[in-house]
Amino acid sequence: MVNTYVDVGIQSRMNKIICPKDNRTVMLAIDHPYFQGPTSGLRDMSKTIQMLMPYCDCLMTTRGAVRHNIPVEYMGSKPIMLRVSGGNSVLFEELSDEQITVSIKEAVRMDCAGVAVSVFIGSSNQQRTILNLTDMINEAEDYGMPVLAVTAVGKAMARDLRYLAFASRICQDAGARMVKTYYCEEFDKLIKACAPTPVVMAGGKHTSPPEAIEMAFKAVQAGAVGVDMGRNIFQDENPLGMIKAIRAVVHDNKNPQEAMEVYKSCAGEACKLE
Ligand code: R5P
Repeated sequence: MVNTYVDVGIQSRMNKIICPKDNRTVMLAIDHPYFQGPTSGLRDMSKTIQMLMPYCDCLMTTRGAVRHNIPVEYMGSKPIMLRVSGGNSVLFEELSDEQITVSIKEAVRMDCAGVAVSVFIGSSNQQRTILNLTDMINEAEDYGMPVLAVTAVGKAMARDLRYLAFASRICQDAGARMVKTYYCEEFDKLIKACAPTPVVMAGGKHTSPPEAIEMAFKAVQAGAVGVDMGRNIFQDENPLGMIKAIRAVVHDNKNPQEAMEVYKSCAGEACKLE
């Protein structure tokens, strides 16, 4: 059945985040300093952005990074997914104690394509973080701004299908227009549990190019619209090779072996980011 009602603002922004021609996206996550402070690979964030921004479809980052680290001539060249929740740091063990930190008006003023809110399902701050999400959705929908729900996983939680599908489904029911979660076995079941809401895979800690590429490949094959990946790209010794390899998997349907060839082909330009 044809849906005759389209929320134009939301759809227009979603089309900026997820390429309509293949319904896929490579989002570059560089929001980590919001709770980690100085982060390896992001210490000179302007340099990281200048190197990698041309190869992503959307930049997931923070207000401070948009203001201070995106070169003026790059502004507006890629859609921004703005992190709008925070309020904690790695100096405090319980990271779930977040609130909304950036207003929807600020996100509109900054010409963002979407806003991202973390939820910590099963944590002591579960209710607050779900309400952070629903409050932001209530406001953002008025502005035609899609909300990405980020399923943050506390140390006590298992990164398995049971937990991640549970958390992701709660985000969908809250009204998130997109869900970001970690990869797990039987990822296709998580995608089905959230359908038709698009799901992007978070990368997690830096591992190795073959492992990260394989994980992105499996996620996309399972039905994810793409990735929202950070450390496995910007902390790699060949960040340009990584982002191009991930693009090959996401947009060109390359298999992991072919993507590794893309990675290796950039070895000459390899330059580890500080
Ligand atoms: C975590 O809360 C942040 O949103 C990160 O952007 C997210 O974890 C994705 O980055 P990474 O691929 O480094 O895990």
